[in-house]
Amino acid sequence: MAANKKLLVLPGDGIGPEVMREVRRVIDWMDRRRMVRFDMAEDLVGGASIDARGTPITESVLAKAREADAILFGSVGGPKWEKLGFDMRPEIAILALRKQLDLFANLRPAIVLEPLVDASTLKPEVIRGLDLMIVRESTGGIYFGEPRGIETLPDGQQRGFDTETYTTHEIERVGRVAFDLARKRQNRITSVEKANVMQSGLFWRQVMTALQQREYPDVELSHMYADNCAMQLVRNPRQFDVIVTSNIFGDLLSDLASMLTGSLGMLPSATLGAPDAMGRRSALYEPIHGSAPDIAGRGIANPLAQLLSFAMLLRFSFGMEEDATLIERAANNVLASGLRTADIMAPGTAKVGTSVMGEAILRELDKLTA
Ligand code: NAD
Ligand code: IPM
Ligand code: MN
Repeated sequence: MAANKKLLVLPGDGIGPEVMREVRRVIDWMDRRRMVRFDMAEDLVGGASIDARGTPITESVLAKAREADAILFGSVGGPKWEKLGFDMRPEIAILALRKQLDLFANLRPAIVLEPLVDASTLKPEVIRGLDLMIVRESTGGIYFGEPRGIETLPDGQQRGFDTETYTTHEIERVGRVAFDLARKRQNRITSVEKANVMQSGLFWRQVMTALQQREYPDVELSHMYADNCAMQLVRNPRQFDVIVTSNIFGDLLSDLASMLTGSLGMLPSATLGAPDAMGRRSALYEPIHGSAPDIAGRGIANPLAQLLSFAMLLRFSFGMEEDATLIERAANNVLASGLRTADIMAPGTAKVGTSVMGEAILRELDKLTA
């Protein structure tokens, strides 16, 4: 039995706490089954932290995050906090966690589960069997580049500006994560940028090309412009194995890819740092969706992206491959039995809310382990 796995749970705002509740029930189930005992703590981030503590994330929560073996993050933000100003955005919580823990590789898998092949807005024959991995750089680029700001010009006009910037090191380290993943998959990488327009995009292409020639000659590398990639993802998503791209392009392309799988409510993610000398690596797991203010408080959110993020946590941080697979199988079987949250509803299936979906997962876990 595994023990002493330090887990920090940060539910956040909106539907974050609603979907996290269902994951907590799965964790309790695992605890009851004595499969694993977590050393678990929960804390506030985002708007909830602004309300209680006057800041999107406290130093103490950042310190706990640094000490944790893994972080399970919900989502942050919402209209309630929109008028507080740029330095008081709930989103600072997730950006600070990524930046300060140096979590530079954001893995966003888009997998089409067979029971959901009709839930996508795309035709089944286009998406059936899709298994795609987007590796998004997550501590650099225009998200953090300097200079940035809004300034007043001599003629009285104003100018808003941000900076897209990448160093060799930043590109190489996320590139290596992507190449290593490709080796365990179909051995193919598409590196995505706008080398036709942006200097930083041209540089990205040069560095990826050199990295492939030097360290990964066995992996097939191709390059694609980001606009074409968006189109190709909708036209024929199965042409891709691993996509590696910048922070901003990865943000956009992964939301797009989520609809191939049926819903934003289905897509988990893992954000990894570099392994230290002991092989330990900081890691944060979160669904790619946000706090969904339009449906928050109604008990109808899909908890599966959060649950599948927890499965990724078990696999990548705690080496619990069997338990991760068990949770993924439970999710797949519950969907196959015809239960659906509103976002993935299809004719002939039964619509349920967040907690009924969670209960169905628990029942299925019981069944699978009986
Ligand atoms: P969103 O992802 O919250 O919602 C987009 C749409 O998808 C909404 O219609 C929503 O109802 C639906 N949706 C999302 N998750 C769902 C789920 N689990 N089940 C069913 N439907 C779901 O994006 P948004 O509306 O652009 O952003 C809302 C807030 O969330 C903003 O403040 C944004 O900054 C924040 N956000 C936070 C994170 C994060 O914390 N990691 C990620 C994305 C957005
Ligand atoms: C995501 C979100 C975040 C991002 C926001 C909330 C800062 O959209 O995780 O995809 O842009 O990275
Ligand atoms: Mn996003």
